[in-house]
Amino acid sequence: MSELENLKSELKQINLEYTKIKDLPPAERGEFGRAMNQKKQKVLAAIAKAEEDLESENIAPLDVSAPCAPNEPVPVIKRGTKHPLMVELDRVVQVYADMGFNVMESCQLDDEFHMFDSLNFPKDHPARDGYDTFRTAENYIPPAHTSTMQHRALKKYRRALEDGGQIAVVIPGRVFRNEDADATHEHTFYQCEGVFVSKDATMGQMFGVLKQFFESYYGQKLNIKTQPGYFPFTEPSAELLIEKPESLGGEGWLEMLGCGMIHPNVLKTAGIDPEVYHGFAWGGGIERLVMLKYHLSEMRYFESGKLEFLEEF
Ligand code: DAH
Repeated sequence: MSELENLKSELKQINLEYTKIKDLPPAERGEFGRAMNQKKQKVLAAIAKAEEDLESENIAPLDVSAPCAPNEPVPVIKRGTKHPLMVELDRVVQVYADMGFNVMESCQLDDEFHMFDSLNFPKDHPARDGYDTFRTAENYIPPAHTSTMQHRALKKYRRALEDGGQIAVVIPGRVFRNEDADATHEHTFYQCEGVFVSKDATMGQMFGVLKQFFESYYGQKLNIKTQPGYFPFTEPSAELLIEKPESLGGEGWLEMLGCGMIHPNVLKTAGIDPEVYHGFAWGGGIERLVMLKYHLSEMRYFESGKLEFLEEF
């Protein structure tokens, strides 16, 4: 019998003996009970120690220098990597940064003022509904476009204008729309906003900046064209399209972003005199850029967490 087994049977014996207490005259019961209890505590402590010793005997010491068993494959440790979309977002921001743009971060919860009022959306105007915004119970808005940051960007950098300089900033961010997802639409996606203000900013400059951006990002010459658009925060407004180059599957024009000359009311609300300064702004989806670059047809993969998809990058 092992030591532990011995102790356990001793405990059983004590418990059995203890039952005799009821046959003793009441005056003797107290002393008998105390003595038995002391014995029992001793044995219980010895059992606990014996069990502990046994446990540590059973743990094999770890030999970190031991080789793998001969036929066992060496385990591959999979490390996490950046999400492909974030890698591309960094590239997008880097192209603009190389052109001299500052970078601001967007927010993921905003209010009616930044999302609409500061951007010259008339109160109760149907254009507000066009953005399919989610709302929290407290009436905050997970922003439906990165333009929600324009007012902050203008205010943050307007000192540069007074010092004779210009405002040049891009703002990447996550945006949310309450719409059904399909191959080319998601409820959650990324945009990059651009804002430029100076004494003599023109639409021509804007198209120059945007053409240069797309050519740097795709690493090749591209044709661009515009079509009229409508945004309350720009006048005139346009949509910019690029011609699909042969290297990216060829044929057809793709709408890449919305843009225009910043509306005087937007400048005024941010404390910038529209009689003196002019600006242009643009905003476009990141997924669309990346889908074209990698010939992808399914936007939903980006947010799906599908490992097979992510591992391709
Ligand atoms: N915020 C617009 C959208 O999500 C895109 C846009 C249009 C941004 C014109 C701009 C702009 O900055 O000037 O549909």
